[in-house]
This record gives sequence, C-alpha cells and structure tokens, in this order.
Amino acid sequence: MVLSLLNYLVFGFKKLILFDKLVVVTGASSGIGLEITKELAKKGSKVILIARNENKLKEIIENIKIEYGNNQCYYISADLSKEEDLNNCLKEIGKISNDNGQYVEILVNCAGAGNWKFIEETSFKECNDMMSLPYFAAFNMTRLLLEPMLLHGEGTIVNINSPVSVNVWGGCIGYACSRWALKGFTECLRIDLRGTGVNVLEVIPGETKSEYFQHNGIGDDSFPLLSKFVPKVTVDQVAKGTIKAIENRKQKLILPLMLNVAKYFAFFPFSILLKYLLLSEKSRNRLIEIKLKQQQFKLKQQQFHNINNNKQE
Ligand SMILES: NC(=O)c1ccc[n+]([C@@H]2O[C@H](COP(=O)([O-])OP(=O)(O)OC[C@H]3O[C@@H](n4cnc5c(N)ncnc54)[C@H](OP(=O)(O)O)[C@@H]3O)[C@@H](O)[C@H]2O)c1
Repeated sequence: MVLSLLNYLVFGFKKLILFDKLVVVTGASSGIGLEITKELAKKGSKVILIARNENKLKEIIENIKIEYGNNQCYYISADLSKEEDLNNCLKEIGKISNDNGQYVEILVNCAGAGNWKFIEETSFKECNDMMSLPYFAAFNMTRLLLEPMLLHGEGTIVNINSPVSVNVWGGCIGYACSRWALKGFTECLRIDLRGTGVNVLEVIPGETKSEYFQHNGIGDDSFPLLSKFVPKVTVDQVAKGTIKAIENRKQKLILPLMLNVAKYFAFFPFSILLKYLLLSEKSRNRLIEIKLKQQQFKLKQQQFHNINNNKQE
C-alpha cells in the first residue's frame, strides 16, 4: 500500500489495464497456464491460447464464451519444441493481430514439461526435450513477439519458473538445468529491456496442485523432504497473483510467502539442515544403493588381488 503510493508519487505509476489487450499464453490447455488464461478472459483480454492438444483448447474457448461472455479468444495448436510450429504460431498470431488492429502486448511463457530424473537415467532425447520446454520455447516466443512491444514502448513478458531455480533439490538434474537456463534468460532479458517500457516478470510458484506431476510421471518419492514443510498453492492462487503482478508492473512474484524465506537458509548453520531437506526419498535410496555397489566392488577387487597373490606364491 505504502510502496504503491510512493510509486505513484515518484513515478506517476499507473496500473496496467488488461481489458481489450491482446495476450498470448503458452501452456494454456492445463494447470497454471489454463487458470491464468481464465483470469485474463474474465478481465476482458483477448487471449491467444497455445498448446498441443487442439480438442482441449477448443473446449476451453467454448467454456470461456459461456462463463465470461468473452467471444474474443483464439487458439493455436502447436508443439513449441518444433521450429516449424513456432514459425506457424508467428504467422497465426500475425493474422489475429491484423484482424484486431492490435499487437501482442503481453506474453505469458508457461508451457513446460520434464521428468525428475538422475543424470544416469536421462537419455539424449530427454535431455534435449527438457531444454526445449520451458527454456527454448520461452526464448523463441519472446524473440518472435518482442519487436512490436519495443516499437510501442509498452509490453510485458511473464516467465513462469520453478523454486528449483532458487534452491536445487536432488534427483531432477535435467529439469533443474532447464529452469536455471530460464532464470538466466529472464535476468538477461530484464537488463536488455531496461528503459524500453517492456517489463519482465518472473513468477516462481511453490508446489502447485496441478496435473504436472501425472503428466510427467513424477512420484511422491521424488519430492524433497522440504516440500512437506512448505504449504502447497492452488492454480487459482498462482493465476490471481500473476494477474495482480502484471497489473502492478512487478518484476518478481514468489508464492507462497514461506518460499521467500527459503533463500535465507542458504547460509551456515542452516545450510547443513537445508542440504538434508533438499534430498528426496529417491535420492537417499540411490545413495544407499551406490554405497552398497561400492562395497561389493571393493570386495570383488580384494578377492581378485588375493587370487593373483596366491597364484604368484
Ligand atoms: N505444478 C507445479 O507444482 C509447478 C510449480 C512451479 C512451477 N511450475 C512450472 O509451471 C509450468 C506449467 O506447469 P503446470 O503445473 O501448469 O503443468 P501442466 O498442467 O502439465 O501444464 C503444462 C502445459 O504445457 C503445455 N505443453 C507441454 N508440452 C508442450 C509442447 N511441447 N508444446 C506446447 N505446449 C506444451 C501443456 O499442453 P499440451 O499437453 O496440450 O501441449 C500444458 O498446457 C511448468 O514449466 C512447471 O515446471 C509448476
């Protein structure tokens, strides 16, 4: 409240009006992206929904018409890990922009996927796929839609990231690297866009009740122990928080509040406790397995040496 007032007095701060704005949301067919889409549609934005599942997107558009009376939402079915589909998205968005006489003023990069695996379980393809989404998709969508925002001196890029980009936990190396790449992208973009009128907002939701974990085959034993102590958030809370942050031209949103505290635990003596809390049941079991294999290997080596020594004698 006080900060908003100060902002207003010093910078002539004006809330961003979402009504009638042309907005692109990737990953709009489910979870966080879907809920952000609904909130935007409620506010009267013209939303372009992007995801692969065409039937789901059609159904969502129909429901938006019925529930919010918003007839100006569109969908593009695309696999954002494919260059051809990305270029097709640009063409389709260009057509929608021309028809409406508007440019895309807000881009929400929310499409994401990726299993939580150890490096030895990850194939070449899985490693590349995890970089494709969310990182490459966010990079390329921004690259393709930025120019008109720069020309108009007004725009918002929203990147949905994960708490793993703040504190890594065990057993999700490919997933974590892609989110750290997204974090680097977000921070570089913010520096490059300073003073242009285009805002970069990073949203970091904690564990959110969505279908992400079923979609990506992540079991309960993969969650770090710490997750038991941090309250889960709902897609509704993340979406409402994101909309408010866009309207208020914020740069960062971390949910729930307790996750903001986690970074202070990175210092001694809490860092020792934190390292333990960031291990999952799967990580602890893997360490036991590795230790057992090491012991068996040592024993075999010992037996081999004994046999060799006996032969020499
Ligand atoms: N759930 C959480 O606890 C949580 C917490 C923090 C951050 N996040 C991050 O938020 C993002 C969204 O998560 P969510 O919980 O909303 O998951 P979700 O329900 O699985 O939604 C993922 C969305 O991405 C789309 N998508 C996946 N692969 C795609 C591709 N190749 N091309 C285009 N679209 C694709 C999916 O649609 P189609 O399958 O139709 O393509 C879907 O709309 C992820 O990056 C996740 O890491 C999630």
